[in-house]
Amino acid sequence: MVWLGILLISFLSYAFGPHEALDCLGCHSPHYAKAYKLFKVKNEVYPNPRTGKPIDGISALCLGCHNLEKFGGVNIRPIFLHMTHPVNIKPNPKIAQVPPKLLRDGKLQCVSCHDPHPSNPNWKYLRVSTKGGTQVGKFCAVCHPAKVDFKYYNLTSKEDIKIFSSMNESAGAKEFSLTDPDLTIENPTPDYIKPFGEYKNSLSPAYMYVPNQPWIYSPDPKNLPPALRELLKEISQEGSR
Ligand code: HEC
Ligand code: HEC
Ligand code: HEC
Ligand code: HEC
Repeated sequence: MVWLGILLISFLSYAFGPHEALDCLGCHSPHYAKAYKLFKVKNEVYPNPRTGKPIDGISALCLGCHNLEKFGGVNIRPIFLHMTHPVNIKPNPKIAQVPPKLLRDGKLQCVSCHDPHPSNPNWKYLRVSTKGGTQVGKFCAVCHPAKVDFKYYNLTSKEDIKIFSSMNESAGAKEFSLTDPDLTIENPTPDYIKPFGEYKNSLSPAYMYVPNQPWIYSPDPKNLPPALRELLKEISQEGSR
């Protein structure tokens, strides 16, 4: 809990969002990834209350941090799906008109609403600028336009709403119109990561902690996955001979 306090204090005084301090390695691990896109954490236990099945796809990555440890996260701003806007589901088109590009395999996911990369300047890493959370209706209008008074936000139609994305390196991190062919939120690649035994999200192997982040710590060797523990034992015995 101390690190949480430190994070909060340090971020209230800067214009950066909190993901900046993860310094890439909080979410991605170039050499010890647990999931898709070199992701370092993944929630494998938390069920989706709408489907009763474990959460799947990209949302499982966010929930690898954003839930309590007993529910598969690492206690950072827990998001409890049983009291959250529906997620990880195929939308009923009468409830929401989601632009197809914002869906992943036809499903609404955390990244349909958020672009988590530090380059996203928007409040709460939302895909739409809400002027610091004072024009949230503009964001809801992307999928629930029939509910929104467009005049109130000086918009004439849904086409006026701009979507932030960092997912097209050719175009750069910026806002795109919904009809812009450069608007990309996904570049699918095969999931080739095969985790080397199971380990808790909070206990990544010792050599991959982030130096300036006290909360991503080196674990006690006894908490390492058995396969890695054996390997390290062999290596250290060889070294001491
Ligand atoms: C809060 C977590 C988080 C942080 C911090 C983060 N990323 Fe990501 N990154 C993601 C997620 C989630 C994806 C997968 C996006 C997707 O497929 O929708 C991703 C995907 C990527 C990709 C693959 C892009 C693609 O087209 O598939 C690259 C490259 C990347 N990140 C680089 C970085 C770099 C560099 C940093 C540090 C500046 C960083 N990320 C910080 C969450 C994060
Ligand atoms: C490696 C852990 C980690 C992962 C994975 C992660 N986050 Fe975060 N996130 C954090 C931390 C740390 C904070 C700051 C917590 C605090 O200040 O209390 C945060 C804060 C946030 C916030 C609040 C930002 C603000 O300005 O208040 C949002 C929104 C968010 N995360 C969304 C996401 C989404 C969406 C994903 C998945 C794409 C994701 N996060 C994945 C660590 C993570
Ligand atoms: C990226 C698209 C998207 C955005 C943005 C979005 N929603 Fe939704 N919303 C959905 C989808 C998809 C559903 C679920 C439809 C279904 O049940 O099949 C939904 C459902 C809902 C429901 C009904 C929940 C239920 O239990 O049936 C409410 C209320 C709602 N959204 C409110 C909001 C509000 C308020 C905002 C803005 C803060 C918002 N939504 C932003 C896509 C979105
Ligand atoms: C329909 C759009 C939508 C979806 C889907 C969505 N979020 Fe959010 N999220 C929001 C909005 C709007 C806010 C800002 C309002 C608030 O803080 O409650 C927010 C805020 C947050 C915060 C900050 C909470 C805080 O205490 O400030 C976190 C963390 C977060 N989301 C993570 C997630 C994760 C993880 C998922 C997927 C499991 C997710 N979001 C899915 C719209 C969404």
